[in-house]
Amino acid sequence: MQTKFKTNTPEATIEIAAQLGKNLQAGDVILLDGDLGAGKTTFTKGLAQGLGIKRYIKSPTFTLIREYQEGRLPLYHMDVYRLEETGASDLGLEEYFDGDGVSVIEWSQFIADELPADYLVIHFNKVDQVDNDRNLVLEPRGQRYLALVQTSFGD
Ligand SMILES: Nc1ncnc2c1ncn2[C@@H]1O[C@H](COP(=O)(O)OP(=O)(O)OP(=O)(O)O)[C@@H](O)[C@H]1O
Ligand SMILES: [Mg+2]
Repeated sequence: MQTKFKTNTPEATIEIAAQLGKNLQAGDVILLDGDLGAGKTTFTKGLAQGLGIKRYIKSPTFTLIREYQEGRLPLYHMDVYRLEETGASDLGLEEYFDGDGVSVIEWSQFIADELPADYLVIHFNKVDQVDNDRNLVLEPRGQRYLALVQTSFGD
C-alpha cells in the first residue's frame, strides 16, 4: 500500500504531517528520506504540531538528535546525515526506538542496519529544483503503520 500527496507550500506539508502527528503512539518510528531541502524538517514541524509541541523545531543536523518532552508524547527528532560514513552501531538508537516517545529520522537510509523491522517511511521528492512542488509517498511497513496511515488519511 502506498499513499501519495503533492504539496506546493511548506504549510501544506505541515498540515499533512500534523494530521499524522495526532494519531502517533509511543514507540512509533517514522523515517523521512529524500533530497536536501525536500521538506523533511518541515514535515517534522507538522508532526510536532500534531503532538501538541509548541517549541520551535530546529534541524538536528549538527546535534544528531533533539528531544521535545512537552507534547502528548516525547518526540525524538534525528538527522543522521552525518553518519553516512560511520554508521550508527554504537549510538544506542534502539533505546529511542523502544522508548516512550516517537522517533523521527531524517536520512534513515544511512543507518539502514540499525532500523526496527516495522516503521512508516515517507519519501520526499522535489519535483524540480526551482519551484515549491513536493511529492510525498508514504509506505507503511507492518500492521501498526498500515493502521496509522488508514486512521490518519483513510476515508
Ligand atoms: N511544498 C513544500 N513542502 C515543504 N517545504 C517546502 C515546500 N515548498 C517550499 N519548501 C521549502 O523548502 C525547504 C525545505 O527545507 P527542509 O529543511 O524542510 O528540508 P530537509 O528535507 O529537512 O533538508 P535537509 O536534508 O537539509 O535536512 C524549506 O525552506 C521550505 O520552506
Ligand atoms: Mg532537515
